[in-house]
Amino acid sequence: MTSKTAGTHGAVLADTVPEADRPIVQLRGAGKAYGNIRALHGVDLAVHPGRVTCVLGDNGAGKSTLIKIISGLHQHTEGEFLVDGGAVRFTTPRDALARGIATVYQDLATVPLMPVWRNFFLGSEMTKGPWPVRRLDIARMKRTADEELRNMGIVLDDLEQPIGTLSGGQRQCVAIARAVYFGARVLILDEPTAALGVKQSGVVLKYIAAARERGLGVIFITHNPHHAYMVGDHFSVLRLGTLELSAARADITLEELTNHMAGGAELAALKHELAQVGGVDVEALPDEEPEGSAPDTAAPATAAPTTAVPGSAAPDTAAPDSAAPAEGKA
Ligand SMILES: Nc1ncnc2c1ncn2[C@@H]1O[C@H](COP(=O)(O)OP(=O)(O)OP(=O)(O)O)[C@@H](O)[C@H]1O
Ligand SMILES: [Mg+2]
Repeated sequence: MTSKTAGTHGAVLADTVPEADRPIVQLRGAGKAYGNIRALHGVDLAVHPGRVTCVLGDNGAGKSTLIKIISGLHQHTEGEFLVDGGAVRFTTPRDALARGIATVYQDLATVPLMPVWRNFFLGSEMTKGPWPVRRLDIARMKRTADEELRNMGIVLDDLEQPIGTLSGGQRQCVAIARAVYFGARVLILDEPTAALGVKQSGVVLKYIAAARERGLGVIFITHNPHHAYMVGDHFSVLRLGTLELSAARADITLEELTNHMAGGAELAALKHELAQVGGVDVEALPDEEPEGSAPDTAAPATAAPTTAVPGSAAPDTAAPDSAAPAEGKA
């Protein structure tokens, strides 16, 4: 399998396999300094259509900084940022949106008291009639919002209800459906499951998978390796602003990923400490020098963080026909 693209873009939709091998968004040795604080350094990342790239890392690891670069809020101060193979430097989030990169922030920018359908079109309302008497096309907006939510498998009883009455998980789902409808090719989700319970997290993960099925490239920021592993095709772990691990799904198990996130050695030390306290069940934590996982102070393990192209990393859930519907939308 070669990763060369045919060159004709969008002409032969059925022939999506070579297209899928070209990243939509790519970072090469990218970094960001805030004054003399280096928040991010030497990061390689590739986002492919129809794949979920998970960015993991502890608090302060640089996850938000990374997506702020891609979403146009901040500019990188080192390395390269490419979209469709060309170098870019966004100055506002509008630049990113214009290239099909949509970001769903954790504090969703919704108006709680407005109905669901109104929030769906917030800032991009449908109108009808000629200019002086132009007015909102309410019927069409309601119908479209309803269709689009159903297309993503989201069933709400009543689109007239204020969006503030939906659960956090449901609001995330509406935001995902909205981004898909408005032609996003890349969807960035900043910790969408962080504040959610088990069941609601499951719902959000389901729609992440649905977005992938529709051919979007998804960047899923999380500090939960279990959530990442449920939907991820590629895993990038940040630590103190650098890429500690970049691995395709085929090359890493959930245990290894969890160990990387926690830092096997740190967990073992914690186990030792907690064991002295009493009343804490430490059995499940790994022992000092856990088998098969190098301490995280060693050189970057597993896959070398060079140009992180996962190759044939598609999991069983990623259908080969996934790119077609989203292409038709844009
Ligand atoms: N605007 C800023 N000015 C100065 N330093 C910043 C700024 N934003 C982030 N940083 C620093 O950059 C580092 C990475 O922060 P970032 O917010 O990207 O981490 P994060 O992985 O998103 O963490 P969290 O899980 O807490 O959201 C931190 O040390 C932070 O203090
Ligand atoms: Mg953050």
